[in-house]
Amino acid sequence: DVSRNGGRRLLGFPAITPSVADEVVLPPGYRYQVLFPWGHPIVPSGPRFDENADNSATEQAAQAGDHHDGMWFFPLRGSRSGLLCVNHEATTEQLLHSDGRANWSPEKTAKSMAAHGVSVIEVEQDRRGGRWELAESRFARRITMTTPAEITGPAAGHPLLRTGADPEGVRVLGTLNNCASGPTPWDTYLTCEETINKYFYFGEQPPEAGSVEERYGIGSESPYPWYTTEDRFDMRVEPNEYNRFGWVVEVDPFDPASTPKKRTALGRMEHENAVVVRGRRGEAVVYMGDDTQFDYFYKFVGAEPINKALKRGRSPLDTGTLYVARFEEDGSGRWLPLVHGRPGLTEADGFADQAEVLIHTRLAADAVGATPMDRPEWCTVQPRTGAVFFTCTNNTARTESVNAANPRLENRFGHIMKIDECGNPSAETFDWDVFLLAGDEASGATVPPDQAFGSPDGLWFDKDGRLWIQTDGAQPKVDGAEQNNQMLVADTRRGDIRRFLVGPPRCEITGITATPDGRSLFVNIQHPGDSGTPDTPRASSNWPDYSATGRPRSATIVITREDGEVVGG
Ligand code: FEO
Ligand code: CA
Ligand code: CA
Ligand code: CA
Repeated sequence: DVSRNGGRRLLGFPAITPSVADEVVLPPGYRYQVLFPWGHPIVPSGPRFDENADNSATEQAAQAGDHHDGMWFFPLRGSRSGLLCVNHEATTEQLLHSDGRANWSPEKTAKSMAAHGVSVIEVEQDRRGGRWELAESRFARRITMTTPAEITGPAAGHPLLRTGADPEGVRVLGTLNNCASGPTPWDTYLTCEETINKYFYFGEQPPEAGSVEERYGIGSESPYPWYTTEDRFDMRVEPNEYNRFGWVVEVDPFDPASTPKKRTALGRMEHENAVVVRGRRGEAVVYMGDDTQFDYFYKFVGAEPINKALKRGRSPLDTGTLYVARFEEDGSGRWLPLVHGRPGLTEADGFADQAEVLIHTRLAADAVGATPMDRPEWCTVQPRTGAVFFTCTNNTARTESVNAANPRLENRFGHIMKIDECGNPSAETFDWDVFLLAGDEASGATVPPDQAFGSPDGLWFDKDGRLWIQTDGAQPKVDGAEQNNQMLVADTRRGDIRRFLVGPPRCEITGITATPDGRSLFVNIQHPGDSGTPDTPRASSNWPDYSATGRPRSATIVITREDGEVVGG
């Protein structure tokens, strides 16, 4: 009873049981190493981590940021060394500074901004011991909230993107809330800006009902006090700065002097990840979720072949058509083009031009009749079949009506969708199915009770066809206790699923990439101890240092097998 795909064993490990322990649990025969925790210098000669969080903002800008999320391994020398790009989505401010959020200052804003963004590090594996280490690399860099980035594509220079500091609307400082990610076929890294609304202060009164700001989640408060020391985060002073975030950003890890590019043709939303495949004409096709309750699933189809664009010095991601998904009750679906001038997207509808369709992607998608989903998070494309899978993590706000693609009221545990475009990634129609309903038996899950999980978020097909599922949020209870977040592997053809990893309390498991040989698997443990309740993270986790005087830390870990074989196989 062995699960295989073309001779490769897909699920070659025994499922582990749920856990509430303050550790990372793996199947027998597997081990992990903490490679790159928050505060770790990006090169060995960099500033050392201070476990009392007394590192300065300048030191933080040369160290791993916080809340590690999406990442990707770009090989340099086979599977033994490579560049690892790691997103730093957010911060836990009470841990980031030795005195937490008290006595907020410009230095604290600067340190918090330096703990966001992306790390590019060079990693190499010791031939004998098998341990991974960071190299003293010319590629190593941090991209933070002060790194200049260029706005490209149809919305570049638009009046809504112009600010006092950038009257041209083409140059932004930084990238924000870098959630998940995706590699491109031309060896660059896409980092996706997600929950940007939390960083901007609108004023004491929230935005008006029905306003663009409300649709983009701007409230009357910002949990990040950045606006108290930096005017660009105060919307009363600078109303357009927030339009310059919420994009997919392209980074060239092989050129440490390169400027990150915000690709506006891919739309503006709470971007989760971005999966790039080649269409039949060689064009870039990008699948993307907008992670908010009742928001949408998107794809972009490039206008010209990737090779042709690159040869002419153009980005394959700057010209093309953005579509949003509509899921019909009969299992068919349509990609609805978000093109200025079409019904609902004219000047009379409030869209002056294509740039406004892209800056206000959510409003455009509302106007054309897209299907509101239960928080679309990661997507991934199945090798060989080209089927697109995406997670709908949960949606407890769905209290009134269900549909075939979002079939549960108060969807506490989420589900995974499957889209079949019959081998044509640029198709305007598709068939779809619910791949699985997560949760426990009482919630109507389609997963065996002993492999129960909730809130699927990270999702990735490895080269062999294993579907890795990572969780973030509510998990089913075992003996009255809510289990910790976890990672499972599915054999989608047999419908078999097995729990592979369980993390420490109140973390999320997110970010996954492997060496080309599949023998080293990189995974991120995000915010151990902190699932959003301020001031108590140390009460529930002290992973990975277990230092009496230290603090829990987000970290990249590397998982290997004691026998050195393929992870999962
Ligand atoms: Fe950053 Fe939707 O997760
Ligand atoms: Ca997170
Ligand atoms: Ca996520
Ligand atoms: Ca999530």
